[in-house]
Amino acid sequence: MSSHRPIGPFQVSPIGLGCMNLSHAYGAPPSAEEAERLLLTALDLGVTLFDTAALYGFGANETLVGKVLKPHRQRITLCSKGGMAGVQFPDGLKRVIDGRPEAIRRNCEDSLRRLQTDVIDLYYLHRWDKTVPIEDSVGAMSDLVQRGMVRSIGLSEASAATLRRAHAVHTISAVQTEYSLWTRNPEIAVLQACQDIGAAFVAFSPVARAFLTGKLTDVATLGAKDIRAGMPRFAPDNYAANLKLLPGYQRMADEVGCTPAQLALAWLLHKAPHIIPIPGTTRLEHLEDNMAASRIPLSADVIARMEVHINQNTVVGERYNPQGTGEVDTEVFAVPR
Ligand SMILES: NC(=O)c1ccc[n+]([C@@H]2O[C@H](COP(=O)([O-])OP(=O)(O)OC[C@H]3O[C@@H](n4cnc5c(N)ncnc54)[C@H](OP(=O)(O)O)[C@@H]3O)[C@@H](O)[C@H]2O)c1
Repeated sequence: MSSHRPIGPFQVSPIGLGCMNLSHAYGAPPSAEEAERLLLTALDLGVTLFDTAALYGFGANETLVGKVLKPHRQRITLCSKGGMAGVQFPDGLKRVIDGRPEAIRRNCEDSLRRLQTDVIDLYYLHRWDKTVPIEDSVGAMSDLVQRGMVRSIGLSEASAATLRRAHAVHTISAVQTEYSLWTRNPEIAVLQACQDIGAAFVAFSPVARAFLTGKLTDVATLGAKDIRAGMPRFAPDNYAANLKLLPGYQRMADEVGCTPAQLALAWLLHKAPHIIPIPGTTRLEHLEDNMAASRIPLSADVIARMEVHINQNTVVGERYNPQGTGEVDTEVFAVPR
């Protein structure tokens, strides 16, 4: 199970590293020294797929990743995203979705500079800007390939229909979307669509933003800058209901002989060979825990019981608030809770 997986023209470690948390999203980020140690330890552990975005820390994450990984550039598959980035307004930097060709080109130039590289291996459209035809945004990304600025392209949070339209313009090498036991929407159509066109499926938030690690037991501890505080599943009442799923889940991890985080990642790796999870962490012990998940065998019986225990019908709360839901383009189950 620990063998490499294909993504576009690259072969990468079966589990990649999501770098977002080193600059953004879940409370105070680690110090520059701690972040550097984490990235270098990931390399030592055999990670070759690194995921960042123009959005993360409004460029700070790409600057960090570029600086630390520059000496190792030839050994890694470097992925970033554009089409959603920080834009300066009179009252400060704000997150803006902009899929116009000129914005995508500008985002990519900025990313290349911050990443200190001539070329990005896999460049995703972070969100489809629904005011711009997907063909126009992907056409601009295709132009980046022609110019040698990126080697392959992907989409994030795209539906199967959008994926097929995009793929008609330029080969789509990967779709990156949230996928874990508690977010199963890709099972509706996108996993199959990726398989059909030969694209990898990159599973973000694969340990359910810490829920499936069993370590986040009190959402009152989430700071004001923690994006989970605005997500319905992490609202106190909903999360209290979701926590009731953890003892049964922990028993399955005990039965397999692994940690809950490893069980979540092993489940993804067993679902299909074109799935590549990219857990994020700020802690070395969690990094080691996560990367060891590629060696954990799961029986069909355990997989079936996991899926019955945690799924869209047993989890309480939507994954995004109404604004976030409006920004994604993914299929949803017919009867949401
Ligand atoms: N395309 C998109 O729109 C999009 C959106 C979100 C994320 N992403 C990408 O996906 C990556 C991962 O997603 P994510 O960070 O949202 O979710 P995640 O990987 O499911 O969860 C990260 C959280 O889990 C904790 N954690 C991770 N491994 C752990 C372990 N073994 N034991 C205990 N706690 C553990 C981390 O805390 P510690 O720091 O304490 O370990 C952190 O709070 C991001 O870094 C980013 O690259 C993409």
